Amino acid sequence: MGIIDASMRIPGTTLHTSLSVGAIKDYLGVYTPARASDILLEPPADPVRTWRAPLLGCEIASHDFEDPVLPARELLMSRALNWALPLRDPDARWASPDEARASMAREFAGMIRPRVDWRAPLSDEALALFVRQGLAAHLLTRDEGGEGYRVDLLAMRRYPTRRGLQPYGARLRLSPALEPVAIDWEGSTRRPGGVDWEVAKLVFRASVAAIVTIRDHALYCHFKVANAACVATRGSLAPAHPVRLLLRPFLYRTAKINFDGYTMLVRRRAIFHRLFAFTWRGLRALYADALSSFTMRTLPESLARRGVAELEGYAYGEDAARVWSIVCDYARAQLARDYQSDARVDGDAALQRWWTRLRDTAGSALPLRGVAGLVELCARLIFNAVAVHEQVGGSIGDYLTHPGFAPPALQRGRAPEEMWASKNTLYQAYMLGALTNLRMPRVLEDLSGALPDEHARACMRGFQAALTAWARELERRNAGRPQPMRTFDPTSMEVSVSI
Ligand SMILES: [Fe+2]
Repeated sequence: MGIIDASMRIPGTTLHTSLSVGAIKDYLGVYTPARASDILLEPPADPVRTWRAPLLGCEIASHDFEDPVLPARELLMSRALNWALPLRDPDARWASPDEARASMAREFAGMIRPRVDWRAPLSDEALALFVRQGLAAHLLTRDEGGEGYRVDLLAMRRYPTRRGLQPYGARLRLSPALEPVAIDWEGSTRRPGGVDWEVAKLVFRASVAAIVTIRDHALYCHFKVANAACVATRGSLAPAHPVRLLLRPFLYRTAKINFDGYTMLVRRRAIFHRLFAFTWRGLRALYADALSSFTMRTLPESLARRGVAELEGYAYGEDAARVWSIVCDYARAQLARDYQSDARVDGDAALQRWWTRLRDTAGSALPLRGVAGLVELCARLIFNAVAVHEQVGGSIGDYLTHPGFAPPALQRGRAPEEMWASKNTLYQAYMLGALTNLRMPRVLEDLSGALPDEHARACMRGFQAALTAWARELERRNAGRPQPMRTFDPTSMEVSVSI
């Protein structure tokens, strides 16, 4: 790994960042992307081993039969670096956004997959797209009793940040046509073109980057839903149980991914603590608040609860609803042979134990009411892997193309340019982006080897045909949009969560 090679020191960054970037680049150089043929149909029958993660308050899968995403040596080195090296926030800056872009493109060539080219990312037009079809889109909510909409992250003010770094917390308000009209920030309302409007936008976008990555991606998508699905399914259902067989491809490597993620990202002095601006006390408070407020919902329930189910021009809602429908059809078709009546669901003792463990691990689960309930619950778990993960964790690189777009941490300052991501922050963010690019098999690959019989393979062919048709429809939709939305593009969707 060459960690004592002084030439690896990156100017303007901490020794921890320099060594971590070097280690990850070394590892990515020898990493082999996972393929569909790697998914074993008949895994060992042993139930998954678990460990109670103190920061999460639940059991997480700690070992599994599948290859680790990160070898033990890299994990040990990561933990050693975390504890040996101080947590510092050097404020060395980029000479210009162009210098930042060129440097990162050179340093991380081939390690980040941009999905959408955000032109003029700091503009008000880009902010509107950010909430219609970008990183904030799943947070958009209708104003209670009003005509407009909002993305409300004001509550993030309560989590303290380190010296020299900007606190998070802002509320974006939008017109009925989803145009930004105001941002509430630091006790005042800022209006487009007015005093501190650009600063308020910057704080809002950084707040989105932080809450989506920490809460929605790591805590909810990985540790609540994917982890609970993995623990309950491998721990409560026999290998030949139809629900375990249905979920099998969508839990590929999930145990190890989550355990590695806990070590690499979540712990004290690990990547989240160093990358985001929070003090450890602030980050722990965010973890605790997020974990205690999780509720598992279907996509239609989520859209209806936020008052955006029929919202015109809301590309995220339109595309997510289409994929949700396809996933539900797939789950229904796969389960139809084994669950032909509600009594069959109610009488399946293993399934009832599975649901109880799922709910206890996640802290919330959709109800298991008859066949329809089973279909919705399985669809929710599959949708988490193939679609939710794309929204909350699939496009970090898109938001790092400018140090003032949606950086994970901001410097304290009065003007936006003074607050843009430091060199250290941007290097750390790209490092996280590179880690999240460790690929899982894609949903449109040949998954027949991971399916038990002809019924299952026929259902999968139907699923993939529906997704292929959706890919064509998406191109037509995107042709009419001011900027394409590729979050739910089936040609890049993966079967299971990656880092
Ligand atoms: Fe992930």
